[in-house]
Amino acid sequence: MQVTVSPASRLTGSLRLPGDKSISHRYAMIASIAEGSSRLEGYSTGADCQSTLGCVEALGIRVERAPGVVIVHGTGLDGWRAPSGQLDAGNSGSTIRMISGMLAAQPFDSTIGGDESLSKRPMERIMKPLALMGARITAHNGKYPPLSIHGGRLTGIEYEPPMASAQVKTCVLFAGLHAEGVTSVIEKTQTRNHTEVALHEFGAKLRHEGDVISVEGRPRLKARTLQVPGDLSSAAFFLVATLLRPDSHLVLEGVGISPSRTALIDWLRSIGANIEVRDQKLSAGEPIGTIEVHSSDIEGGIIEKAMTAALIDEIPVLAVLGATSRKGLIVRDASELRVKETDRIATVAENMQRMGVKMEVGPDGFSIPGGQKFRAAMVDSFGDHRIAMAFAVAALAADGDCTIDNAEAASVSFPEFYDTLLQVRTT
Ligand code: S3P
Repeated sequence: MQVTVSPASRLTGSLRLPGDKSISHRYAMIASIAEGSSRLEGYSTGADCQSTLGCVEALGIRVERAPGVVIVHGTGLDGWRAPSGQLDAGNSGSTIRMISGMLAAQPFDSTIGGDESLSKRPMERIMKPLALMGARITAHNGKYPPLSIHGGRLTGIEYEPPMASAQVKTCVLFAGLHAEGVTSVIEKTQTRNHTEVALHEFGAKLRHEGDVISVEGRPRLKARTLQVPGDLSSAAFFLVATLLRPDSHLVLEGVGISPSRTALIDWLRSIGANIEVRDQKLSAGEPIGTIEVHSSDIEGGIIEKAMTAALIDEIPVLAVLGATSRKGLIVRDASELRVKETDRIATVAENMQRMGVKMEVGPDGFSIPGGQKFRAAMVDSFGDHRIAMAFAVAALAADGDCTIDNAEAASVSFPEFYDTLLQVRTT
């Protein structure tokens, strides 16, 4: 599908964004091994989170879907049944990496795969710790989906992932729920902590001391009613769009503002963004609030080290902001961008070039000079939701209509994205 995005003179209004993708995945997976029916309000409408629901259904769990709510009828830690065919994670790295931790401990074998993009994403990062726990997993060419998982008894380990990854941390902790003894993950660079918060809410015995997160095996998890906060990573597209169009002002209500995700807001403020957060409260351990943003004079800056890990999903749209900023943007330590839904350094660079924007690319980062203008062009999502949405934002600032090819990719995390954009833009 192609979508044409016309330049916007300004953005104004008030929005409520769809449910957080990361939190939705975790709630659905944990609810499926809890005892009783969990009501998940505001569950993400994105295709990725539907893939997670499809997987737990294929494992014998009843799921009810109604507008704005999903009910997962959990049957306890030993409640899953052998699936009749290959589990389908679709485009979702979170689904395959996190649920594999639980699959590795089942008394049955399973296989799990996904679409073409997922079939190229590295899985050794979860295969290695799961093997240390006693799992037997084979993969295409030793590291790619589909994974064949020979389930069995697992033993707790202490593991330090070699890269900053919330998916790997979650996979190991989820395996630890089913394992003998205690399982610990040592996290030197902090990543999003939704797994820790959710496990605590469902009644798991979890400790977080310094940089060590430990979970006790074989807990009794209890069903919960939970509200999924709005997705801050989806909000990022509207924050950047508002910042770079003049006379713009947007209010985003009910957004998740976990301190493990708000590096986005802090970093944007540090380069000149006028962003305020108010009406803060806690919802099942997750902070939520209203974010108010005004167009701002953006200086530009550097993203590196732990900041790169903290902003990893937002970098494509921050690259768009960098191009229009005064001094530009430098991104370092970002080799993980090369193994996302697409090689995001390459796909950002290709679209920047099509829009007439200069960008220098390195093996694990890039640099974009500031003060540049976007030329009207045909860009491509390359099947990557965040690339589709980042360049729709660039199109708002272009000198004419832009067409986004394969625009439907946005529905992986944000099916309502283009309609929402129309709601707040003035041509
Ligand atoms: C996610 C973790 C991140 C992020 C992804 C969602 C999660 O991936 O990029 O969109 O929900 O845990 P990594 O763990 O590979 O960094």
